Amino acid sequence: MKRSIVTGGIALLPVVLLSGWAFAQSAQVETLRGADVDEPIPLDQIHKNVEGRMQRNYRQQPPLIPHSIEQYQIDVRTNQCLSCHDWSKAGERNAPTLSMTHYLDREGRELDRVAGTRYFCNQCHVPQADAPPLVENVFQPSTGN
Ligand code: HEC
Ligand code: HEC
Repeated sequence: MKRSIVTGGIALLPVVLLSGWAFAQSAQVETLRGADVDEPIPLDQIHKNVEGRMQRNYRQQPPLIPHSIEQYQIDVRTNQCLSCHDWSKAGERNAPTLSMTHYLDREGRELDRVAGTRYFCNQCHVPQADAPPLVENVFQPSTGN
């Protein structure tokens, strides 16, 4: 009895597999990338770093980064931006020194090392690119009048 159930099950297996296959064939799977898996799709335009300096959009804007940052690691142990921009290195690396605001703690005390609140540089600074806004934006800067 037991044995016949097992053989019956095995005999049914191809039927189950075949109907699964037929279902998979008929189901309309929408891909997120908008093409079949084996179909190459051209990338959207890559927004390269703009050379020179772009104008700030408002007075207090963190300056945009005028160089590539691809190789510069920032994590809890290391911050390679500081190897050029920290006050102790900037002279010899010929890079702009971090302004004093980067060395103030929450209470406004002056520190010798970059403040924790300014450690993750790309929270505020991004490489400059002439990219269209991701969402519509009607921001107008104050003119200072
Ligand atoms: C190898 C040295 C070096 C490293 C590392 C480096 N920078 Fe720079 N950075 C420079 C130099 C040199 C300039 C000035 C370039 C110029 O004037 O065109 C500069 C300019 C900048 C500016 C513009 C400052 C201003 O006043 O407009 C920002 C912001 C900046 N870097 C942020 C960063 C950040 C963030 C990192 C890490 C992800 C980083 N940099 C890593 C050398 C470096
Ligand atoms: C919380 C936002 C914030 C973070 C984080 C931050 N910055 Fe800035 N940074 C600014 C702003 C705003 C300015 C312009 C006003 C000023 O100097 O305070 C600036 C200015 C600068 C300048 C130009 C200084 C000058 O005198 O022209 C450099 C270079 C710079 N930042 C590099 C860095 C680097 C490197 C890091 C990471 C170690 C960093 N910043 C982290 C907001 C930030």
